[in-house]
Amino acid sequence: MIMSSKIQALAVLAAAVALSAGPAFAKGPVPDPAVKDFQRVVDAAHAKYKDLKDGKNADYIPILTETPSDLFGVVIVTKDGKVYSAGDVEYKFSIQSVSKPFTAALVMAQQGPEVLRGKIGVEPTGMSFNSKLALAVYEDSKNPLVNAGAIAAVSLVQATSEQDRWNKVSQNLSDFAGQPLTVLEKVYESEYTTAFGNRGIANLLYNWGRLYSEPEEALRVYTRQCSVGVSAKDLGLMGATLANGGVNPVTGKRVMPAEHVPELLAVMATAGFYDESGVWMYKAGLPAKTGVGGGIVAVVPGRFAIAAFSPRLNEAGNSVRSMKAIQDIAAELGVGVFGPNPN
Ligand code: DON
Repeated sequence: MIMSSKIQALAVLAAAVALSAGPAFAKGPVPDPAVKDFQRVVDAAHAKYKDLKDGKNADYIPILTETPSDLFGVVIVTKDGKVYSAGDVEYKFSIQSVSKPFTAALVMAQQGPEVLRGKIGVEPTGMSFNSKLALAVYEDSKNPLVNAGAIAAVSLVQATSEQDRWNKVSQNLSDFAGQPLTVLEKVYESEYTTAFGNRGIANLLYNWGRLYSEPEEALRVYTRQCSVGVSAKDLGLMGATLANGGVNPVTGKRVMPAEHVPELLAVMATAGFYDESGVWMYKAGLPAKTGVGGGIVAVVPGRFAIAAFSPRLNEAGNSVRSMKAIQDIAAELGVGVFGPNPN
């Protein structure tokens, strides 16, 4: 068939564009323009905050006082699984509240986002993570990232027994990380034997018909979930799975439906830092989740994750150096979701 001269001209133009963009344009994913800067910004953030001593280890879970306070790791993991790191990125610490969005993802995957919204809620509370006042307003204002909502999320996981509930929660966290994660048993013992506040929360929720399993079962599985050992690199891979639309970049396994990733990131953006969420979004502009073990993971949707670990926390229970390192990197790379944030 003879092509018209107009179609021929278009074909030549398309070929020229493809050639000028190089083979990455013609085949495979478009490289992230920030890639060449990743190692530089990770190294710079680590060097800048390495000697900062502000804050202190969490102590309401007694064993967390024993984590060496000077440990500090920073990592970027891209949506295709490339790792750029500095410092202590292999040290295993307890995931704590960073586990919460991933179990919320499991509930969404099993039962859809309306169950999460209807039975727990997705409103920022403006409360600290363990606030009893947050319970008092539970009927109107709650989400799966404060303890009340996170314990309820564990109870919502569809399971036939406590062991089955734990297997599903644990397998889901491992699938996000792309490798088997295990519980730090000493952290579990330390937290479960002192979990008076969370036990109170679980019992009140049950009393109000807002818990969907027996309360002590939900408390045990929730506490085990928080005691799972992760490294900063593991957190980076979990975040990269969200950046990659719910598919782990290393294993290629789909861990959650792609269509629910934006909903989960929205909850992380509005409530990932509890009563500090506004300041966090103001400064970093990225959906993220923090934990009292010292870990934080932030997600640049569709591109990469930034994770950090440092045990010393501020008054709101968020890691001082991890926050600063991630904020700096987000500003340096200009990746805040509302536009580049100044440093
Ligand atoms: O339930 C608790 O209190 C802990 N297992 C988790 C709290 C936490 O990590 C809050 N995050 N900054």
